[in-house]
Amino acid sequence: MNKKTALITGISGQDGAYLAQFLLSKNYRVIGIQRRSARNTNLRLERLAITHKVIIEDSDIKEINNLIRIFKKYKIHEVYNLAAQSFVKSSFDNPIETTHVNAIGTLNLLEIIRNQNNNIKFYQASTSEIFGEHGKKTQNELTNFHPRSAYAISKAFSHYTVQNYREAYKMFAVNGILFNHESPLRGEEFITRKISLGLTKIIAGKQKVLKLGNIYAKRDWGYAKDYVEAMWKMLQVKKPEDFVIATGKTHSVKEFINKSVKILNLNTKWIGKGLNEQLIDLNKKKPIIVIDKKYFRPAEVNILKGDYNKAKKILKWSPKTNLNDLAKIMIESDLLYINKN
Ligand code: NAP
Ligand code: GDD
Repeated sequence: MNKKTALITGISGQDGAYLAQFLLSKNYRVIGIQRRSARNTNLRLERLAITHKVIIEDSDIKEINNLIRIFKKYKIHEVYNLAAQSFVKSSFDNPIETTHVNAIGTLNLLEIIRNQNNNIKFYQASTSEIFGEHGKKTQNELTNFHPRSAYAISKAFSHYTVQNYREAYKMFAVNGILFNHESPLRGEEFITRKISLGLTKIIAGKQKVLKLGNIYAKRDWGYAKDYVEAMWKMLQVKKPEDFVIATGKTHSVKEFINKSVKILNLNTKWIGKGLNEQLIDLNKKKPIIVIDKKYFRPAEVNILKGDYNKAKKILKWSPKTNLNDLAKIMIESDLLYINKN
């Protein structure tokens, strides 16, 4: 068979689904690792109508013996390690499980590749969270790490391990340092989706109020569909290197809310300060967004803004979607989604 084979861990997640779709369009055979669950974890693949086009193997990424079996079963060319406990807030409550999955899971895969076939190319889903309290205007591949959560620390472990395996064993292993990226397939607990889904539900009368945490945090938000292409590009160049993938722009959560409110034509006004800040629907004379302490984090990453010049130069990659268009894509999709669910 001439087709290249890619193995995606975390195929049921936002990026896994879009990456599978992208690789299928490039004529890859796609194998996805998915852990068994009582609920239907194929929802995103179903929404993209590609469930029947990928091969699913059942494994937890912590289960090295099962992973070894899967690597023996197929001739794999590229591995995309996207599986993770990816919700930063949850990593404060579950630091040990987060570390097992995000750090040891990566080590499991790298050890298998080192022992079985170190020609397999390896992509690691690294993250802008590792920069944390960085003290820099923009963050690039040379910026120091100052992780602020168990999530970020576990990802920093994997980041360094990938670099070490590249240097020590001459493996083609790279870190994609991706800044936040969103889409209609984004998990409902992450802020942009929580806002697009929350506001559309409020308009439809299915939810009364949206409770949020720190609306002054700033993020560099891009579109997930643009970002999965960068993952693939990183494995197609001659030399294995790490790359920042970002838009180079930063916006606060409050700015994202204001953009969404405008797209939805809502007549609103912010009142109050701190925990008493509220967004009022002026037509209904009721608050639709309130602040809740519960959603604040013990340590926050206040601002992220990526410098993607290296990717632009070497990978010829640039983001295609701005935040306004992204908000529109998500809101339009959620207006349809809430009527079906
Ligand atoms: P996501 O939607 O949360 O998907 C995570 C995937 O990992 C899911 O398929 C999940 O499976 C799987 N998973 C979790 N624990 C597992 C385990 N123990 N064994 C096997 N699979 C497991 O995340 P995403 O947004 O697509 O992000 C993909 C990757 O990029 C993650 O590693 C994330 O940390 C990283 N990243 C994301 C962003 C972003 O802004 N999206 C930015 C930088 C880096 P279930 O369906 O069973 O839960
Ligand atoms: N989720 C959430 N819920 N976040 C809130 C809320 C809320 O109610 N209110 C304010 N925020 C703030 C968070 O405190 C954070 O500063 C920001 O919104 C973004 O939060 P998330 O959307 O949960 O994403 P994240 O930045 O913590 O992490 C995401 O991006 C990382 C890359 O920088 C995840 O996808 C990570 O897996 C990824 O590595």
